[in-house]
Amino acid sequence: MDALALEKKAQRNAELRERLLQLKKERNAIILAHFYQRPEIQEVADYIGDSFGLAQKAKETDADVILFCGVHFMGESAKILNPQKTVIIPDERAGCPMADMVNVDGLRKLKAEHPNAKVVAYINTSADVKAETHICCTSSNAKRVIESVDSDEIIWVPDKNLGHYVSQFTDKKMIIWEGYCNTHDQLSVEDIVTLKQQHPNAVVVVHPECRPEVVALADYVGSTTGILKYCRESEHKEFIIGTEDGTRYMLEKDSPDKTFIFASKYLVCPNMKVNNLKKCVEALENMKPEIYVPKDVADAARASLERMLEVAPGS
Ligand code: 13P
Ligand code: SF4
Repeated sequence: MDALALEKKAQRNAELRERLLQLKKERNAIILAHFYQRPEIQEVADYIGDSFGLAQKAKETDADVILFCGVHFMGESAKILNPQKTVIIPDERAGCPMADMVNVDGLRKLKAEHPNAKVVAYINTSADVKAETHICCTSSNAKRVIESVDSDEIIWVPDKNLGHYVSQFTDKKMIIWEGYCNTHDQLSVEDIVTLKQQHPNAVVVVHPECRPEVVALADYVGSTTGILKYCRESEHKEFIIGTEDGTRYMLEKDSPDKTFIFASKYLVCPNMKVNNLKKCVEALENMKPEIYVPKDVADAARASLERMLEVAPGS
């Protein structure tokens, strides 16, 4: 983009920001955003977090309206935990392909094949799948959640990579669904090895949605909040980052004196990037798209989410 185009974009964003703040006040709304959102959205958000922090915040808020900037299952979780609130999202096409890799019929079949197993669902699942599960978890509390389950046999959905990662820390038998994140799963051993040769002093930090062979090369493995905290508190100055590019905004804000090398150009979740500032303004102006979850599904899914919040109240 040339200088003039950049200036115009900055001016347009400033106008949108102003309008958004005005609407937020009028609607008594809170803006929640995931760390993978565009910087322009993170700049205006009241709270930026990982999946766990966002679920917690959605439950606590006393705003009337939640504008949820993330992907669809996150907005659904906010609505399930807070059914009396209006939850709107910038664009209903912002889904999560990994969440779509498991459905109710398939899960019911697996449950019938393993009648003694309890289902642990990564929060990256739709509301109707959550309704079929015993407890939810996120990447920040998965180990703790699995140990809390009163069964030696666990059906794990939908992320095979996170499932493999947590299976190393438990004696329980894990029956793992074959889902994966299109974005994190693209990161290869070669990407890490090549960067490590170019930056021998850099520390390798990855999200557990990456493949096991990539996770095996990491110095630190954690959720987005975990990654941010690790980099902020580390004495090291150079990091090879194996998670979505949106975290760059907060990493650089937290630690302007450190260097963050993103491990692959493919670490961009196109679904998270569907949202932008203009759509946030339109959503609050029109109060749509609104998240709706049928009551029976929401009640069953809530039990699974609430169990997670009880087991890991402050992940
Ligand atoms: P966390 O924010 O919980 O680390 O999860 C990452 C993710 O892929 C969300 O879709
Ligand atoms: Fe889903 Fe992966 Fe995008 Fe997260 S990064 S929303 S898991 S596709």
